[in-house]
Amino acid sequence: MKILHVCAEMFPLLKTGGLADVSGALPLALGEQGADVRVVLPGFPAIRDGLSISGEVATLQSFAGEVRLLFGTTAQGVGVYLIDAPHLYGRGGNPYQDGNQHPYADNHVRFALLGWVAARLAEGVDPFWRPAVVHAHDWHAGLAPAYIAAVGHPARTVFTIHNLAYQGVFAPSDFAAVDLPAHFFDVNGVEFHGHLSFMKAGIYFADRVTTVSPTYAREITGHEQGCGLDGLLRDRGEALSGVLNGVDGAVWNPASDALIAATYSADKMTGKAKCKAALQQALGLQESTDAPLFAVVSRLTEQKGLHLVLERLHEITSRGGQFVLLGSGDAAMESAFRVAAAENPAQIAVRIGYDEAFSHQIMAASDVIMVPSRYEPCGLTQLYGLKYGALPLVRRVGGLADTVADCSLENLQEGIATGAVFDGFSGEELTRGIRRIFALWARPKEWKAVRKTAMSCDFGWQAAAEQYMQLYRALGA
Ligand code: ADP
Ligand code: GLC
Repeated sequence: MKILHVCAEMFPLLKTGGLADVSGALPLALGEQGADVRVVLPGFPAIRDGLSISGEVATLQSFAGEVRLLFGTTAQGVGVYLIDAPHLYGRGGNPYQDGNQHPYADNHVRFALLGWVAARLAEGVDPFWRPAVVHAHDWHAGLAPAYIAAVGHPARTVFTIHNLAYQGVFAPSDFAAVDLPAHFFDVNGVEFHGHLSFMKAGIYFADRVTTVSPTYAREITGHEQGCGLDGLLRDRGEALSGVLNGVDGAVWNPASDALIAATYSADKMTGKAKCKAALQQALGLQESTDAPLFAVVSRLTEQKGLHLVLERLHEITSRGGQFVLLGSGDAAMESAFRVAAAENPAQIAVRIGYDEAFSHQIMAASDVIMVPSRYEPCGLTQLYGLKYGALPLVRRVGGLADTVADCSLENLQEGIATGAVFDGFSGEELTRGIRRIFALWARPKEWKAVRKTAMSCDFGWQAAAEQYMQLYRALGA
């Protein structure tokens, strides 16, 4: 079964968020299920540098000029088609925006090309490997199902929504540049309120649409979280489903993680205490085993609800807790967190930036990982927290609702609690969750029991891979 994934980023080559974690892990997990999986990626410098390129597949004349299609493999052995187009992708830094955080003006062409090349592969441009299913991820790849429909459906298509809020909407005049049939610019097509929408194209043209948790699949069919596409998503009916992401155990495993101060497992937890002491020391926090260490590792955006954390930091520190944040994004939020740390350096530490190794060290050191999102399609950090024994404190929304069980009395009694879950998107509700965490912390025996349950949760990729395989088979692959 030949499956082509279409994506803009892939761990460990290039990562700005959870999308890369997924495209890095899912092909390997599908491979274990017997699928023959390849990925097509834009030729960003970081991606090109991380591949061993074995040759050129074709030179293609496209609406974006002449581009070369190269083939290579990742260090993990995944086959990758690389779109070599330096005039579009050779810009370094962030794949989507310039140094001033403005989206590149030609993003419609840069990412249309990704979908267009996927369609050429579906048509058989590589005579040795032709996919039965093209599986496109997020708006960047949203035109792939449209281009494939435009040439008579040479492959079946799956489109996965990782975040409905980022839609890739462009001016109507940009439609002419991307070489789709004129009649596709229609309400039954890629047109969205008079504009060109890549996200809508994926949802409209794909044979199947998935998103990254069952709860988010339901939420996006409603007005509040539908981002204007809820009507179309409701229309897709049975073609829409949710498949929960997993954790790549080769990357995230406290028993074998080379990036942390000491390894540990549910049965042998001394390493976690060493990790906590090492982090407290490195960050200048008071060295204390008694203070629960709360952590955030996140993009600093509206989605993540971190202004609630800022507003309620005192609820953690006044109870004797500590707080560490690693993140980057919104400039006002970056400086507000910096100020909070400067005012109370013994209890609050803040690192602004993106640091893969440090994110592992924080997971290993922390007692609590906070994810108070406004919305969350799946969320991976709470899954990493579970695995590393950092109990998730999360809002009951999207994938967070599907993966964390609150430490309510009845859940404790039944031995299924794994963290703390609050409902409303407000400071009061977050405080309720913080108080519940402290109440559990005050009962060390129960804390350890909950932590053990959390660490033994199985959120590996196998279950997700099996569900995607079923989907591909249902499409006739
Ligand atoms: P999203 O994709 O919405 O950002 P996820 O929870 O799905 O949220 O995935 C976020 C991924 O990015 C995780 O692997 C997390 O560890 C990582 N991450 C986020 N911010 C940082 C950072 N500042 N440094 C290192 N890793 C980060
Ligand atoms: C998006 C979502 C996040 C999800 C990730 C991977 O970035 O915001 O919730 O975990 O994609 O699917």
